[in-house]
Amino acid sequence: MDFTHKYKQQADKLKGLSTFEGKRKTKWHSPSNIALVKYWGKRGNQIPQNPSLSFTLKNSFTETEISYIYREQPGISMQFLFEGKPNPDFGERIRKHLLTLREFLPFLNSLGLTINSSNSFPHSSGIASSASAMSALVLGLCSIERDLFGTLQDEKDFLQKASFLSRLCSGSAARSVYGGYTVWGKDGHIAGSYDEIAIPPEIKIHPDFLGLNDSILITSPEKKKISSSRGHSLMNGHPYAEARYGQARANLGKLIEALENGDEKCFTSTLENEALGLHALMMSSNPGFTLLNQNTWNIINAVRKFREASNLMLAFTLDAGPNVHLVYPGNNKKEIIEFISNELIRFCHEGMWIDDGIGEGPTEIYT
Ligand code: PMV
Repeated sequence: MDFTHKYKQQADKLKGLSTFEGKRKTKWHSPSNIALVKYWGKRGNQIPQNPSLSFTLKNSFTETEISYIYREQPGISMQFLFEGKPNPDFGERIRKHLLTLREFLPFLNSLGLTINSSNSFPHSSGIASSASAMSALVLGLCSIERDLFGTLQDEKDFLQKASFLSRLCSGSAARSVYGGYTVWGKDGHIAGSYDEIAIPPEIKIHPDFLGLNDSILITSPEKKKISSSRGHSLMNGHPYAEARYGQARANLGKLIEALENGDEKCFTSTLENEALGLHALMMSSNPGFTLLNQNTWNIINAVRKFREASNLMLAFTLDAGPNVHLVYPGNNKKEIIEFISNELIRFCHEGMWIDDGIGEGPTEIYT
């Protein structure tokens, strides 16, 4: 399936918007996700160099309301509010994305938009919000298309287009339009996978892996020194690039098998290999950099010791930042929370951590 071609063709029918009276509204709640197999490196128009696998979170989400009116004068017209206040930096980014999306949603030229967005997680948590923010925005735009043209009535069509358009804004956002486990990137291990959109894989997940928790330990609230886009671009010409793309494919195969069979050992070792592999790529880029800090390592070392002593399943992973995601099954929650409170909280910025886990994906909010 060539989704770019499909949505370009559809765009011809999304021009020529008829005028409508008054102000209309749409609102979406969309969560972030944590990658188990990491996307790092891209080509062309946001096409990933390797497939990635994530689960969508529950408690770390963005809520975005879009009000829209008909506008005679053509062009992108938008006002952006973050948590009720103008935010020129975010607003500028959103405007750029709308300009990109206009190719597929030409009716944006005839609308006046007011976008009001807020996050469930604190500003100062250093949690990357592009996946939740971009998916919430795009899901709203797809609802507007459905409202104005009667298209995208079928849920699968709706989510595929939302995933496609989210990808153009932020690669990882393509995965956030679905709940549970999600795969983005074409790969032989996953039937019906694509580079242009993410999909919920058709695999039977072992019950132990259905309700995983993710405790996100915040070691630094600071904004990243190096953006993800810069990091992706440093994969071009990276001496380990080809080996990395092969490693990601192999790790995807291993993780899928572990998720199906309930293999905790394989899940843990593959998850941690992905996390450290991602950060090793950053360190060995040219110029090299690291986003990790001393407390990231203190937590990793403590987790390894705890696991050895307790024999409980507890695995760590990392995003593009110094915060540590602790992934473990619901059954171990009591012991892990005790471990966090007694031993890890001192490595967290102002004792900050977020209690999260696998969630069911975005929801439209009817007000
Ligand atoms: O979606 P981006 O461009 O911010 O890149 C995300 C990259 C990682 O978070 C490090 C990995 C991933 O797959 O989410």
